[in-house]
Amino acid sequence: MNARNTERGAWGSRFGFILAAAGSAIGLGNIWRFPYVTGNNGGAAFVIIYFAFVILIGLPVMIAELSLGRRTARNPVGAFAQLAPRSFWPAVGMLGVLTGLGILSYYGVIAGWTLGYFLKAVCGGFSADMSYIQSSEIFAQFVADPLQAVGLLFVFIALTGIVVKGGVSGGIERWAKILMPLLFVLLLLLTLRSVTLENAAAGLTFYLKPDFSKVTVNTLGNALGQALFSLSLGMGAMITYGSYISKRDNLVTSAAYVCLFDTLIAVIAGLMIFPALFSQNIPPAGGPGLVFETLPILFNQMPGGMLFGAGFFLLLTVAALTSTISLLEVVVAYLVDEWKWKRNTAVWMMALVAFALGIPSALSQNGSAFFTRLPIIHMGFLDLFNILLGNYSLTLGALLIALFVAFRWGIHQANQEITQMGQIFYGKTAWSILIRFLCPIAILGIFVYILLTRNYF
Ligand code: TRP
Repeated sequence: MNARNTERGAWGSRFGFILAAAGSAIGLGNIWRFPYVTGNNGGAAFVIIYFAFVILIGLPVMIAELSLGRRTARNPVGAFAQLAPRSFWPAVGMLGVLTGLGILSYYGVIAGWTLGYFLKAVCGGFSADMSYIQSSEIFAQFVADPLQAVGLLFVFIALTGIVVKGGVSGGIERWAKILMPLLFVLLLLLTLRSVTLENAAAGLTFYLKPDFSKVTVNTLGNALGQALFSLSLGMGAMITYGSYISKRDNLVTSAAYVCLFDTLIAVIAGLMIFPALFSQNIPPAGGPGLVFETLPILFNQMPGGMLFGAGFFLLLTVAALTSTISLLEVVVAYLVDEWKWKRNTAVWMMALVAFALGIPSALSQNGSAFFTRLPIIHMGFLDLFNILLGNYSLTLGALLIALFVAFRWGIHQANQEITQMGQIFYGKTAWSILIRFLCPIAILGIFVYILLTRNYF
């Protein structure tokens, strides 16, 4: 390894990288977003399409991003600049860096809510026989409090900064190794409780029995958007994480593990949520508040529920934290690589920017405020950011990354990077077909459709 790599940092081990990348992928997208998007799109039919997209689009794009990163040992802007100097491609990296900062700002708001719910659960803020109406009310009041929302955002971004400041292996990897296994155990325990609730079968039927009559082109858009978001693709997070991977590691099997873990956690989160919903007669298409409105009811019904509730929201906070870390790391890597900023300075300056940028989103749930319903577009700031960045920008980014690797950098170069130390590239032919044809065509088709219909959520 050359000196430059050592200065930038590197993963301590392959397993450490897989956990850190899975930590980036596994987050609110799996536990908060996946269940309600599935609920809104008719259940199991959506889940099947989602699987197909993870395997046929997500995995190939992840391999593309990781190989770009490892080849160049650079942030997204630097990676494109190195492989295609004096072209517009570095601008694609820049779009990724800015998108990451933007996602961090509103994701931090929702992550702040999970932190707040943890504190609420610890302080016994949920009464023992709460109805769905009551818990919805509690949630609505909770997110409407402006000072609290901004304060929680601040705390959360600060936590993210503390971990990222610790560096690649000493901060990000070390925390992922502690936090990810804990998250998994707690999720399993909660799921066990949920599937043994009364009327759980109705929820499992809704979740696991496909109803293809509910599938429209819109469903495809939602499934693709969810896959890209959940796997942290389309903005260079995986380029950045790939830049710290050792040349000895097998990128393809690592990417497959990350996709597998991410999907597994999303599926288990669905198993946890839907039986709980049906046992309480709560409509499955509940929207973004779903996790916050229903889970407190579930906790109240189990022995030691307060403990579980507090534990769950703590670990949801943790899952969100390992994701926000990756969002902050991208812009930090960019400033450290390209502008020679000190890591420390980059971390705190960008944390401050993300915090300031997140304030309108934090205020967007307060019924009376300007940010709740922007003029002309008639939606709140958080929704606007989520649609523009979480949907459109990631889709565009994934499309451009696939095109770049397939046709500009070239699949032969990518193959060479992937197999360079005698690594075996399982599914090489399949990958080169998917990344050249299926990925660009499918992503472009869906992208044009959602642009025309403006119907992405
Ligand atoms: N994948 C994370 C989740 O599911 C969110 C996330 C982290 C992300 N880094 C990203 C999304 C980069 C898109 C791009 O919650």
